[in-house]
Amino acid sequence: MMKVTKAIFPVAGLGTRFLPATKATPKEMMPIVDKPLIQHAVEEALAAGITEFIFITSSSKRAIEDHFDSNFELEANLFERGKHEQLALVQGILPPTVSCAYIRQKSPQGLGHAVLCAKQLLSSEPFAVVLADDLIDGGKESCLQQMMTVFEQTQASVIAVEKILPSDSKKYGIVDIASNTQPVAKIAGIVEKPEPANAPSNFGVVGRYILTPAIFNMLEQTSEGSGGEIQLTDAIAKLLKKEPIMALKFHGKRYDCGSKLGYLEATIAYALKHPEVAKDFQLLLRDFVECMA
Ligand code: UTP
Repeated sequence: MMKVTKAIFPVAGLGTRFLPATKATPKEMMPIVDKPLIQHAVEEALAAGITEFIFITSSSKRAIEDHFDSNFELEANLFERGKHEQLALVQGILPPTVSCAYIRQKSPQGLGHAVLCAKQLLSSEPFAVVLADDLIDGGKESCLQQMMTVFEQTQASVIAVEKILPSDSKKYGIVDIASNTQPVAKIAGIVEKPEPANAPSNFGVVGRYILTPAIFNMLEQTSEGSGGEIQLTDAIAKLLKKEPIMALKFHGKRYDCGSKLGYLEATIAYALKHPEVAKDFQLLLRDFVECMA
């Protein structure tokens, strides 16, 4: 029985939808209230049992590596000033038992290419892929944990999907599953960003995958697809010809933090449950709404 203990975090994209904010700052470091998107993603993976974290980065993403490293100067300063709560916050970002690896993607050739960059660290075991710009609040059980359960039962690749508006099909990989199936369904096909008329269903792939290592051969055989990039979806379509792949209609709420509106929605939702600011923020929001009425 195979177990998933490694996860890839592709963070080498350009984040053009957030320019100029992302000119010198990684999109994945943008905070939801006070915690960067990438830390939310890492915490989800930690809770799901991941112990090895592989970040696919680029030259403009050094802040991510720094975020998960210790910062001696800051820590010494917080200690000297007796700021023990803040010190615990910065020291507790990752437990000492886990390990991080950073691999540079030389140019942003697509998500599939980013995943392929991790091949040498993942030769023969299943692994997770987590996209930090999809922030998912799974409630009691995170999306990745739900996927782990499906993997343990099926030993097959698992892709998280959610119902999307038919008119949005060009923004997603779309899986071919019947709309009335159980939360877990074997997929019959997958296609990247189809026109609404060609979409095989209304279920779009979100940024969580558990993949078997056979995906690497498929990625090596995948040429540029939609947008001139090596698409992970195209390699998954190839893998499907060799192995069963499951779709999971996960429980929870996804925020598309790669888009401005999704990011703002997530900020409001997380601020409304943040222990420090929730109460005051609710009042603030009420004032705004009343002003607009
Ligand atoms: P996106 O499709 O959101 O692209 O990538 P992007 O470049 O980050 O953002 P926009 O569209 O220009 O605004 C989804 C995830 O895949 C990573 C991104 O960092 C993001 O986390 N990615 C994408 C890579 O690591 N490498 C790539 O070549 C492309």
